[in-house]
Amino acid sequence: MNAMDDVLIAGASSRSTDPIEHKITSLLADMTLEEKIGQMRQVDASGDQINDDLRNAVKAGRVGSVINQVDPDLAYELQGLALEESRLGIPLLIGRDVIHGFETVAPLPLAQAASWNPELVRDCARIAAREASSCGVNWTFAPMIDISRDPRWGRIAESFGEDPFLTSAMGVAMVEGFQGDDLSNEDSIAACAKHFAGYGASESGRDYNTTNIPENELRNIYLPPFKAAADAGAATFMASFSDIDGVPATANAFLLRQVLRDEWAFDGFMVSDWDAVRQLSVHGLTENDKEAAFEAASAGVDMEMTGDAFVEHLAALVNEARIDIETIDQAVANILRVKLRCGLFDLPFASKERRLSAATAESMNAVKALATESVVLLKNDRRTLPLQKTSVNSIAVIGPMANAAVEQLGTWTFDGDERRSVTPLAALHAHADDAFDVRYVAAMESTRSLDTTSFDAAVAAARDADLALLFVGEDAILSGEAHCRADISLPGVQSQLVKAVSETGTPVVAIIMAGRPLTLGDIVDHTDAILFAWHPGSMAGPALCDLLFGVTSPSGKLPVTFPKMVGQIPIYYNHKNTGRPPSPSSVIHIDDIEIGAAQTSLGMTAFHLDAGYLPQFPFGFGLSYSEFEYRDLKLSADAISPEDALRASVVIENKGAVTAQEVVQLYIRDLVGSVTRPVKELKGFKKIMLKPGQSKRVSFELTCKELSFYRRDKSFGAEAGEFQLWIGGSSVAELSARFSLT
Ligand code: GLC
Repeated sequence: MNAMDDVLIAGASSRSTDPIEHKITSLLADMTLEEKIGQMRQVDASGDQINDDLRNAVKAGRVGSVINQVDPDLAYELQGLALEESRLGIPLLIGRDVIHGFETVAPLPLAQAASWNPELVRDCARIAAREASSCGVNWTFAPMIDISRDPRWGRIAESFGEDPFLTSAMGVAMVEGFQGDDLSNEDSIAACAKHFAGYGASESGRDYNTTNIPENELRNIYLPPFKAAADAGAATFMASFSDIDGVPATANAFLLRQVLRDEWAFDGFMVSDWDAVRQLSVHGLTENDKEAAFEAASAGVDMEMTGDAFVEHLAALVNEARIDIETIDQAVANILRVKLRCGLFDLPFASKERRLSAATAESMNAVKALATESVVLLKNDRRTLPLQKTSVNSIAVIGPMANAAVEQLGTWTFDGDERRSVTPLAALHAHADDAFDVRYVAAMESTRSLDTTSFDAAVAAARDADLALLFVGEDAILSGEAHCRADISLPGVQSQLVKAVSETGTPVVAIIMAGRPLTLGDIVDHTDAILFAWHPGSMAGPALCDLLFGVTSPSGKLPVTFPKMVGQIPIYYNHKNTGRPPSPSSVIHIDDIEIGAAQTSLGMTAFHLDAGYLPQFPFGFGLSYSEFEYRDLKLSADAISPEDALRASVVIENKGAVTAQEVVQLYIRDLVGSVTRPVKELKGFKKIMLKPGQSKRVSFELTCKELSFYRRDKSFGAEAGEFQLWIGGSSVAELSARFSLT
């Protein structure tokens, strides 16, 4: 019996009838060790990297994948070399970060999460896959499903926020969008769940920093979205750069083998992050590239992204019997399995005729729909919004983000076509159509500018206008990978600009475009309304224009908590109760403490003297142009057994004057557990549309699965006892009921 048979039997005997597994077996039996290791190698093919060395390596079967080549002709050339000139004709995976769109740019993933609309997320991923595959891309490195509780971290922009349930729903939608109904379709691309795992816990929000995550927290908070992605059929996973509890994910057999393979039976392949194998020596886990290759391959990394540790050292490690050939065969089998599932042996190229013109009406409408539903209305005093086209004669459009076609696309948009990026200024001009004047003053050349010399012009424009729209926020470069901030207030002199304009007495609407939650305390009181738009992508302008003028009511809800001060971080809704939870009566503000106060005179609970314990805006929060009333919460039972399902329902009524969408959210609390449990956990949401005066009963079903968690004994399951349940329009919903699990 040869080595491959062992792998097959070890893998899953049921596979023996699967033609893909047969093809893997026969290829492995033919492959030399060098060709096997070649499959485990991804090469950077960007720009001038396409040289004869790369061409020869592809022809020699020493490359399994290339990254960052989106010129269709060059991609096809490399694929042609692999198929027609290499000995075994194994096609290449051609990878690209298609994070939130390709040429047509959708809102940031964090913004997409704020839509609480997985269908729109799936639609936009589908469009991104069509555009990217038409350039020869057949693999993307998304969804990024790292739970992110720290807005200092630049990569929160790529995440779906702080909650496992919402992140899971969004990650699954993106996987389904990219991979389509059939991964082998010409316009499908393989997804990659990243970064496995716990990257969002990087200390102090500094990228690539240390993470220390107790296993119980890892399993209850950070891993669920990855399990959901694996169950949804994500073709690949990517190991995180980060050191988790002293062992970088790239060398972490607990994660890459015990959890992913043994517990989850994942049979796709694991790619390292960019040169992360060799970085194991930088971490100080290994002393050189050879040891790094040993650790990563042994732990379960199947493919090395853009480093040469594998191709330089794995053969020697096998010949020295430090790594078994079975380990290599399993890694190569995983890679070949994905290539076969992608249909690359049959359809290795997207046909050249498919080169799509990106900005089709369908793609622009899809990203506009998602952008429109991603914007969160944080404040709307005196119904400042929506604007009535007939009731304004002049609007002052002010700020560095009003006409920033590139900045509004956000981070990770290498292929975004800025020529097709429609700014708010352009959209407002188009919408005005002589009905009202638009007076534009950028006032600052970028969000980081410290120059106030144009403030006078901005103030003058605001003074003469009926309304001032202030477009402020962050340049795209201020979030994303390695772009972290210790101060997350508005950069530059933007806060001063808001104050200066508000002193004119003209009503002020702030539209904030940023890649993270910001601390807004110094401008909230100087605005009449605030729309938080994240980085909305190619159709930022038309989406915001529709919202400003009430064509659509805002329906976004925060996927992440907004702190009052950066010093409150980490602050998130699904926190533990502690033994001394704060309450309004227990909080004493620093300014109210008597001089000479006795040591024990303050409320002995978990709060900050200068910030209290509440955020600026809570998870799940978002206003509408309408008002929704929740009433008549009903439970199908007061107690359920583990076999039962509990039905919880509530009536929602649109008490306002406009048709609007509402995200109905269901939260639970397990009051007593073998480990302490969060004070709230999102376990369901439904986005519904209601006309004025319309009411609807919305139901949710809770089973033992939703009540289950990783317990003190490391088993997964629910525990009998009391639960509280809330249904409402945010994580501070008050309508609640109790039930018990017997
Ligand atoms: C980067 C990122 C990863 C990305 C990869 C390829 O360093 O960490 O998310 O997919 O390299 O660009």
